[in-house]
Amino acid sequence: MKKSQLVLVSLLVAVAFVATATLASAAPIVIKFSHVVAENTPKGQMANKFKELVEKRLPGKVVVEVFPNSQLFGDDNVLEAMLLGDVQLAAPALSKFEKYTSSLQIFDLPFLFKDMAAVERFQQSEDGQKMLSSMKKKGLIGLGYLHNGLKQLSSSSPLRVPADAAGKKFRIMTSDVLAAQFEAVDAMPLKKPFSEVFTLLQTKAIDGQENTWSNIYSKKFYEVQPYITESNHGVLDYLVVTSSEFWMGLPDDIRAEVKKSLDEAIAFGNDVSEKKAIEDRQKIIDSKRSEVIELTDAERQQWVEAMKPVWKQFENAIGKDYIEAAAASN
Ligand code: LMR
Repeated sequence: MKKSQLVLVSLLVAVAFVATATLASAAPIVIKFSHVVAENTPKGQMANKFKELVEKRLPGKVVVEVFPNSQLFGDDNVLEAMLLGDVQLAAPALSKFEKYTSSLQIFDLPFLFKDMAAVERFQQSEDGQKMLSSMKKKGLIGLGYLHNGLKQLSSSSPLRVPADAAGKKFRIMTSDVLAAQFEAVDAMPLKKPFSEVFTLLQTKAIDGQENTWSNIYSKKFYEVQPYITESNHGVLDYLVVTSSEFWMGLPDDIRAEVKKSLDEAIAFGNDVSEKKAIEDRQKIIDSKRSEVIELTDAERQQWVEAMKPVWKQFENAIGKDYIEAAAASN
């Protein structure tokens, strides 16, 4: 090769290199948001709203890919995947973090919160906000709480008093507090992924489960569960979570804009959760596939008394002060 040809080739290589580098630096940041519920739920709507806001505010800079219905990961493996960098955002139920922190177990204590307003007050309190960073050492950061709502008990037979649940198998999320809650009424808890619940109920491998109105409706549990007891015995809320590595690696201006969009999407999702709790309950009643059982005060009190010892059981792990502060938010 002649000297002039060599110079030309080197020039071309250099130009190609610069072009590739420019393209690479201009490539958008991809945020994969994985969740397990349907799109027409508070979390599903929140994730879609987040995508809409971020992509409008950071066009070409950030792309959000939302994966609903356990399409990408289930809640049993999403946090490990997050620590490996395979997914950047998720919002598992607060019940699903016990491998990483014991403080969030507080939200599973039965009959701790009177209503969602009390849950909101506690989450926004100093104690509630402290819990967002309780997994920092494990590489995870809580970016905010998202509501779904209060849980109801669905079953193949009517549940009016705790004795009706004795000996029955209930699917629970991966939480020792929830296991203790069902053991307190002599029932048999089984930790199973959300994606398996419908089939377990349909095939009668289990007798019942606990969930919110929007999950019972969107996943059609009411079609295979003839009774739903309106127990409001616990809360099912979420922690929007990311990995510290991803979050701190974002440029400051992008991180601020993403957080702002997330806060707005959460507020939107919380509004959806309030509406869905009412609408989906009514849709289930109207379907006539499942009978909604309303408890008398005396019946409800029996559940409260049977399950209350669970608080003491987890007092050391969670912290007595936190439990008292949460109870005071009522
Ligand atoms: C469940 O597993 O029942 C819930 O955590 C599902 C969800 O994300 O609402």
